[in-house]
Amino acid sequence: MPKRVAVLGAGASGLAALKECLAEGLDVVCFDQEPQLGGLWRYVPARDGDDPHSSLYESTVINTSKDMLAFSDFPVPKDWPTFMPHRFVAKYLQMYCEHFQLKKHIKFNRKVLNVVPEMDANGEHTGRWEVTTQRVRRKGPVRMLSPQVRSDTLPRERGRSPPMTGASSAVIKSREPDAPPSPGDADANPARKRSLSPVQVYDPAQGYEPAPPGIDSSFSSLNISSSSSPAKSLAADQQSITQQCIKNYTFDFVIVCTGHHWKPRLPDFEGVENFRGTLVHSHLYRVPYPFKDQRVLVVGAGNSGAEIATEVSHHASQVLLSTRTGTWIVPKTTVFGLPVDHLSSRVMHAIPRPLANFALESLVHLHHGDLSKYGLKPNHSFTQAHPTVNGEILGRIEAGKVVVHPNVARFTSHNMVEFVDGKTAGVDAVIYCTGYKIENPFLDARAILGQEEANSNRVRLYKHIFPINHRNMAFVGMVQPTGSIIPVAEMQARWVARVFSGKADPLPPPAEMRDIVDKDWVEHCKQYIPRERHTIQVEFVTYMDEIAKFVGCVPDLWRLWKTSWLLAAQVTFGPTAAFQYRLEGPNAWEGAPDAIAYACREVDLLKISGLSSLAAAAGVTSAGSSSRSQSPRSRAPQSPQQQSLPSPR
Ligand SMILES: Cc1cc2nc3c(=O)[nH]c(=O)nc-3n(C[C@H](O)[C@H](O)[C@H](O)COP(=O)(O)OP(=O)(O)OC[C@H]3O[C@@H](n4cnc5c(N)ncnc54)[C@H](O)[C@@H]3O)c2cc1C
Ligand SMILES: NC(=O)c1ccc[n+]([C@@H]2O[C@H](COP(=O)([O-])OP(=O)(O)OC[C@H]3O[C@@H](n4cnc5c(N)ncnc54)[C@H](OP(=O)(O)O)[C@@H]3O)[C@@H](O)[C@H]2O)c1
Repeated sequence: MPKRVAVLGAGASGLAALKECLAEGLDVVCFDQEPQLGGLWRYVPARDGDDPHSSLYESTVINTSKDMLAFSDFPVPKDWPTFMPHRFVAKYLQMYCEHFQLKKHIKFNRKVLNVVPEMDANGEHTGRWEVTTQRVRRKGPVRMLSPQVRSDTLPRERGRSPPMTGASSAVIKSREPDAPPSPGDADANPARKRSLSPVQVYDPAQGYEPAPPGIDSSFSSLNISSSSSPAKSLAADQQSITQQCIKNYTFDFVIVCTGHHWKPRLPDFEGVENFRGTLVHSHLYRVPYPFKDQRVLVVGAGNSGAEIATEVSHHASQVLLSTRTGTWIVPKTTVFGLPVDHLSSRVMHAIPRPLANFALESLVHLHHGDLSKYGLKPNHSFTQAHPTVNGEILGRIEAGKVVVHPNVARFTSHNMVEFVDGKTAGVDAVIYCTGYKIENPFLDARAILGQEEANSNRVRLYKHIFPINHRNMAFVGMVQPTGSIIPVAEMQARWVARVFSGKADPLPPPAEMRDIVDKDWVEHCKQYIPRERHTIQVEFVTYMDEIAKFVGCVPDLWRLWKTSWLLAAQVTFGPTAAFQYRLEGPNAWEGAPDAIAYACREVDLLKISGLSSLAAAAGVTSAGSSSRSQSPRSRAPQSPQQQSLPSPR
């Protein structure tokens, strides 16, 4: 009998886990609370009071290139943009799902409420997991029109609604009607009034119906085995609803893939309770229009902060960007038009860290000059923190539309904020771009993840995957690489599937795992500045190679140099795209050499030096154009999705 596996979540990580488990012959069921796959990449126009899973804003474009974001055996179509808008990623995940026929294994609209060790009649652990799910009921199409405003007076996003008011945890509060006016605030200003009272056109695919009566969606108070009572009583009605909605399953293994970019991390600034303007977290930010003509404070200069500050600055009267640490800002494309993550080659990776820092910081300097002039230069080295990939924010600072400030010290009144340098400013709205908390409310985070404080992102997982005391559970995607999460999650999934199917070496005993977790943490603390956003940070190539060793799929460079110099050169000097890990080992993919060659199209030295036409005349094949003559596997047909495709929209 194949072992039964539950995969929790059908985002990129869950899909990879599902696919890899099936490839290893396991019997898998995947649960997702949403009606569709894609997780974070399924854009949801947040509605008043909703708290959707996705943190995407309408304009999100990936900050990792499509080559570095792709799964190892499923390249992104060639005619899609290198830095794809989010809808392409959603479409790509859908195509992955179709290609590997995953959908039939996914139960949608099933929220996981509880995952506990299964007990037998004697109260002993059976070694399996009991998973409790609840059906999520959805409302039909709703069109909500605010009575005060006419829809034709509003900025509209293809009929989608700005998410600026509401009771969600991420919209902390919106302006109170009786609040004193803010600087530059004119209640007579119709633009501002309109932007805070948006017409809400509701997307039918979104939104949850509240849990049925008697069901608390926090599992601790959920009574799934309540005793039966007279059929007509309210309690009985509730019970029957409960039984319809709640289902228990038993599994040998559980793989948690529920993401870590959905629960807002909120700072606790002194005096914030006095602030009367709009406070929102980037998790619920969708479009900039509600901030038209306002003075907006953006807190945090990570990728969300930099992008949202840039976008809002085109509409707001002024954006103030507050950063407590500064950040290295890297452009999306760099020298010779190379996507910046294409610099992440094995050669670059082999450079000692101080030298790599010097090279990367010099590159930033070459592009932007000294970041101190923008107020953004950090004290740490480049590789000590998650970088901010953004090609536009500095231009907005140069234009005076974004003004950089240090951290917020306190809110001093209903509309004034004081920074740690003593300067004060009046603001109408605050957008917290302060990152996310790791939260898995359906399991005992302390016992399983070693999460000792509720507010801490520090988790104790062996190689960022396996809980020390629960060898039949794994976390996939619970990692923050310097680069794309998706191929990293896939690599984790490959290892997990092989461990659970008994094909990989067994995990070490718990004591040894604990020692390794502790040692890894010591090394981690040497590498990264201590911040909650870095607790699960890993360096892309180091970590991919480390996990690939467990899978048995690290590319053998020595053998490659002996058999195919061009492919070897691409693997050594080109971007470390995940296709490299399908050249050999379990479930190798014959399309890998072609996919690697395509990923190297920008590193084509002949093209860069402008000699390609000469080379073509002389019949020399360049690195990015084809490796067919060199690679034994490259004659394989391309996967279907590599053919030209319509736009995902
Ligand atoms: C604004 C933004 C932009 C980003 N851009 C990039 C980028 O360019 N490149 C990149 O590599 N990464 C990017 N990321 C990181 C992103 O998190 C990953 O790309 C990826 O989406 C992670 O996939 P995941 O499957 O681990 O998590 P998610 O995509 O979050 O999926 C988790 C799934 O679990 C489900 N789920 C959660 N809880 C439950 C429950 N209790 N019961 C049932 N189902 C549940 C959710 O519904 C969801 O479908 C970005 C993140 C943000 C916030
Ligand atoms: N286009 C894209 O592809 C895109 C866009 C957005 C986000 N993302 C990804 O999404 C993930 C999350 O990014 P994010 O920017 O939302 O979060 P993040 O990387 O965690 O950054 C949070 C920012 O908020 C600051 N911060 C946190 N707590 C604070 C506090 N109490 N006071 C003051 N400042 C505080 C942090 O400063 P410190 O450095 O001092 O901690 C940091 O600048 C990342 O993987 C990112 O790459 C991608």
